[in-house]
Amino acid sequence: MPIAHDNNIHFLFEPRSIAVIGASQEPGKIGHAVLANIRAGGYKGEIYPVNPSGGQIENLPVYKSILDVPSEIDVVSIVVPAKFVFDVVKQCADKGVKYGIIITSGFSEIGNAEEEHRITSYANDRGMRIVGPNVFGIYSATANLNATFINGRIPPGRLAMITQSGALGLTMVGQASVENIGLSAVVSVGNKSDVDEADLMGYLITHADTQVILLYIEGIRDGRKFINVLKETTRAKPVIIIKSGRSQRGAIAAASHTGSLAGSDEVFGDIARQCGALRAVSTKDAFYWSKLLADNPLPAGENTVIITNGGGAGVMATDACEKYGISLYNDVEHLRQVFSPVVPTFGSTKNPVDITGQASAGDYTKAFSAALRDDQIHAAIGIYCESALFTAETLQEAVDRNYYQFKNAGKPLVFTLFGGEKTSNYEREARRRSIPVTDDVYETVSSLGAMYAYKHYIDELPENDVAVNMDVPAIDSIIHHVISDGRSFLFAHDAQKVMDIAGIRTPKTLKASSIQTAMKCAREIGYPVAMKIISKDILHKSDAGGIALNLENDNEVIDAYGAIIRNCRAAVPTASIEGVSVSEMVATGIEMIVGARRDNIFGPIVMVGLGGIYVEVMKDITFRSYPLGRREIMKMIKEIHSYPLLLGVRGEKIHDIDAVIDTIVKVGFVILNCAGISDIEINPLVVYGQGDGSKAVDVRIILSKER
Ligand code: COA
Repeated sequence: MPIAHDNNIHFLFEPRSIAVIGASQEPGKIGHAVLANIRAGGYKGEIYPVNPSGGQIENLPVYKSILDVPSEIDVVSIVVPAKFVFDVVKQCADKGVKYGIIITSGFSEIGNAEEEHRITSYANDRGMRIVGPNVFGIYSATANLNATFINGRIPPGRLAMITQSGALGLTMVGQASVENIGLSAVVSVGNKSDVDEADLMGYLITHADTQVILLYIEGIRDGRKFINVLKETTRAKPVIIIKSGRSQRGAIAAASHTGSLAGSDEVFGDIARQCGALRAVSTKDAFYWSKLLADNPLPAGENTVIITNGGGAGVMATDACEKYGISLYNDVEHLRQVFSPVVPTFGSTKNPVDITGQASAGDYTKAFSAALRDDQIHAAIGIYCESALFTAETLQEAVDRNYYQFKNAGKPLVFTLFGGEKTSNYEREARRRSIPVTDDVYETVSSLGAMYAYKHYIDELPENDVAVNMDVPAIDSIIHHVISDGRSFLFAHDAQKVMDIAGIRTPKTLKASSIQTAMKCAREIGYPVAMKIISKDILHKSDAGGIALNLENDNEVIDAYGAIIRNCRAAVPTASIEGVSVSEMVATGIEMIVGARRDNIFGPIVMVGLGGIYVEVMKDITFRSYPLGRREIMKMIKEIHSYPLLLGVRGEKIHDIDAVIDTIVKVGFVILNCAGISDIEINPLVVYGQGDGSKAVDVRIILSKER
């Protein structure tokens, strides 16, 4: 779906004119720093300082009011105290300013959301957009514009940074400068009352100077917009995300596992990955990844070799490769042919290629050159352990030349250097020259892993939703019936009807409202049976003692019926009880959970994981949003830790994974198409051997609150 970008967004990054409202003579004030930075950065457009005192600042005439500025203004930077911001924005919006960057703090971040809303609404209603409030400003290398109060010059380059946290953003700009990472743009989005990450990516996606985008996010307001723009952006360039701030929504009691787990940070991570973004846990990782992705070619294939002079370090790198999904080339015979001329007989030509502790810088170069010449090898990891034979003085010879040769040949080469002070001095200095070296194998390998993750994403064509034939009006009429009955969730027999319409198999179930009918139903279904309470006042049946399983004969049914009614009356004395459902006890299989919901932030999402009663403890689940095809659903299933159970353990045959995929497709389709339903959850979905399908044993369907 094409995205409606803000057609004016280039005016924010490349304004023809900028005004600083609250520009001050006093060097200690933010209003002074912003103006001074704009001047020092070499911005070529018109600059209008505004301050009621008038006069001159930085040799520029000061306007007493924005209304006195004779020409059109694209961007204003607002640096006046909070109580004056509305009036200032009002004047700007009335004058036709396109973007207002509100640096001022003191709005929704301290609970003053009303004033923030008043300001943004006034501006938006008049076509003016707001960045912030509570931001440090914007830097745009293309326009030589540094409208921030960052201390010092920002080096231009190819990484664009968008940050929700001002303080962390300022630190990250400083770190980028230490690492000699040039920036193409920096935007602080602060409270995101209007302009958000998605709006800004709308510009950066086609911005030629930006090669990698780094987002620091604390929370997302409009998940669908974010997902759509992120998907489009990652097709064009890598997007790295650091996200902090676990959502509290997960802690709120929700009526389904899908609901209570969906608010968690994991759902963001899963969906961001689905959209092709790379999620970094630290700023250090994020910078290493950014640098590698901005400066180096993506590998042409999957085969990576490790070249090391230390066996143990090679093993660590191997472990790291497994962790970050890097395939180590393992054609032993081919590796022998390539490396035996350059590896001593007591070394190893297997991957990791061990050139041994006696290797010198020259031996490294020979081994790298062999890897470089070979078409089967697509990427290399160099591990160096300082020794008397290979001292840090010769590192440059072993690292720099090989790195550039690999780069020119379109193969990534990354290094980990272990050693003393001289090694670490070299490492720091090489990194400043954008050579991918670290002092930790996991850091090195994680950057190559990010590169591969990105390559895998863009190598795959986007998928569409799976086509499904389903009688949606029939489901809607069940929902209407439930609504007219005054309930917000479906009884088991209603849910079973929805499953029948959706084509999801369920155990045979009958409804009984007396002991006699319960016995009759049990005989009709065939023993053993399960019995569950039917009451609109009892959603969590097992908590209320409303479930009895494995009932083998009439006597057990009689006892269980009495016990269920007693338990439920004791647990919820006011509950109106309609009777019990009697259903077939299903054969055992792997118990999965499949859920779908209309999420407040991300819209329709699906979930799959290991089912049973410990779902929220185990949290072995993954989420996806739409569009969603079968390939992505398969990926989702493979992501859960318990996936090997589906493949079969201890001689079991493989389970019916297609049946799990079909179930996800179908529950997702119901959520996408039946607006009246907010959550569907099947737990457990019992999955049998391949070809034998699955059964939805317990199905919970909850209706949308807004009707
Ligand atoms: N139009 C133009 N200028 C105005 C004005 C108006 N309507 N109202 C006030 N001003 C001027 C003031 O006269 C002053 O100029 P002066 O130094 O010549 O007297 C200037 O604006 C600033 O006002 P002042 O009252 O001195 O405030 P300040 O500079 O101490 O603080 C902020 C202003 C915006 C910096 C402060 O309120 C704030 O929010 N600080 C936090 C900023 C922050 O951390 N943001 C997030 C970063 S991540």
